[in-house]
Amino acid sequence: MSKDELPNLLMSKPIPIAVVGSGYVGLVAAVCFAEMGHPVICVDNDERKVKALRGGDTLIHEQHLPELLGRYRNDRVRFTTDLGEATRECDAIFIAVGTPQSETGDADLSYVEAVTCEIARSITSYKVIVEKSTVPVYTNEWISRALERNGVERNLFDVVSNPEFLREGTAVVDFLHPDRIVVGADSERAGAILRDIYSPLTSGEYYQRPDGIAGCCSVSEPPPLLTTSTKSAEIIKHASNAFLALKISFINAVSNLCEATNANVEQVARGMGLDTRIGPKFLRPGIGYGGSCFPKDVAAFRSVAEQLGIDFNLLKEVEKINVQQKKRFVSKVRSAVWNLRGKKLAVLGLAFKGDTDDIRESPAVDIISMLLNEGCSITAFDPAAVERTRQILPEGDNMRYAPDAYEAAKDADALLILTDWAEFAELDLRHLNQLLRYPIIIDGRNLYDPAVMIDHGFTYLSVGRPVVHPARDMASASTNI
Ligand code: UDX
Repeated sequence: MSKDELPNLLMSKPIPIAVVGSGYVGLVAAVCFAEMGHPVICVDNDERKVKALRGGDTLIHEQHLPELLGRYRNDRVRFTTDLGEATRECDAIFIAVGTPQSETGDADLSYVEAVTCEIARSITSYKVIVEKSTVPVYTNEWISRALERNGVERNLFDVVSNPEFLREGTAVVDFLHPDRIVVGADSERAGAILRDIYSPLTSGEYYQRPDGIAGCCSVSEPPPLLTTSTKSAEIIKHASNAFLALKISFINAVSNLCEATNANVEQVARGMGLDTRIGPKFLRPGIGYGGSCFPKDVAAFRSVAEQLGIDFNLLKEVEKINVQQKKRFVSKVRSAVWNLRGKKLAVLGLAFKGDTDDIRESPAVDIISMLLNEGCSITAFDPAAVERTRQILPEGDNMRYAPDAYEAAKDADALLILTDWAEFAELDLRHLNQLLRYPIIIDGRNLYDPAVMIDHGFTYLSVGRPVVHPARDMASASTNI
């Protein structure tokens, strides 16, 4: 579709929006707001990023992003470094800058503060300032205070919390087909502007578009918009991520129990998940959660609780189980190959999960680092994350990268699966068996049926399920090999 033919889809009124920060959340929000019909200015202080985005480089590996950026770039979405101009031109300013983890576990809000002070210098008419980044409770009050300290009259702004729940890999679909939209607003005027911004979704209008991005919402089932107080919205975001992390640590702890008893965690998770009060999602055992959100948000939420004098040690346990899960996996590798020193291991997966090139807090990278420290040599493959990993684990005598899974497997003492890429669940097992020095697979993501692995002659160790060996039948399989 050419830019002249951009769909004039909306009966809802377009609202000029500034999005500050062109990272995962900011960039996806910017193109999705444009897709919903709003004119958007996306601001970043990194000139190289702005130039790349203007030129059509998406910077991140994300489904639908190239398509939407192609549709709206330099038209309904403009990229700039000029935050002052964006503030003056727009009614709503979404802050989507990074909130990295500080040494104490707190969220480091210095970027949010810097952006707030810069916005303050350009406010001459009423603006809604929206927290889109994940921030701790009370941040809205700090933003208000900073704006006032920098000379902005109280009647010229409101601060709203509108947390984002998108997942990497499915970010665009998650944004346009959300389970819910949370608007934390203490002022009716600001709440109404946010409701207008999201009305293409909440009214179902967007889902009538023939060229709209498909997902689970529809005209008859548009997403609900929940209006809360600003503080409640801030807590909803941290509590949601912490709860999902807790679910993962819970099933990982259960998987350890299953390993100790020769039970099968997949059966246990299914049995639990069929209870509608529990639900089947986020009960996949593995090597622990990673990524740019869960580790940081659990630590930040714990830190908020500590500062408020609340005993929330449950979150410490969630973190502890997550760290142990990676160590357990390394022990599992040792149990399969005997001594680690000098072993040549093939590793499939570097990204923190499938469908992304993101390696931030990736359990795969942590496990590789531990194995390298133990004296193993590694040949790794990932469909998207090799280049990023090379920067922190450079190629050397013990660390090599292969162009595909089969090259990685050649002459290895065992093969490890560390990321749940779909293509790793569809390997040519016969071929793999011929390539490996010993037919041993240690699967941290439970991508295979143990019975299939026996049929293909593998010793197969997975998470929370009995170890299986080709020479023995399933019934006599034990956890020791
Ligand atoms: C997460 C939240 O899902 C999202 O709502 C929030 O906005 C950002 O953080 P994301 O980090 O993209 O999204 O990844 P997600 O798909 O949630 O997975 C996080 C980690 O948990 C990954 O390492 C994944 O492999 C792991 N995971 C997930 C499990 O180990 N088991 C599961 O059942 C689910």
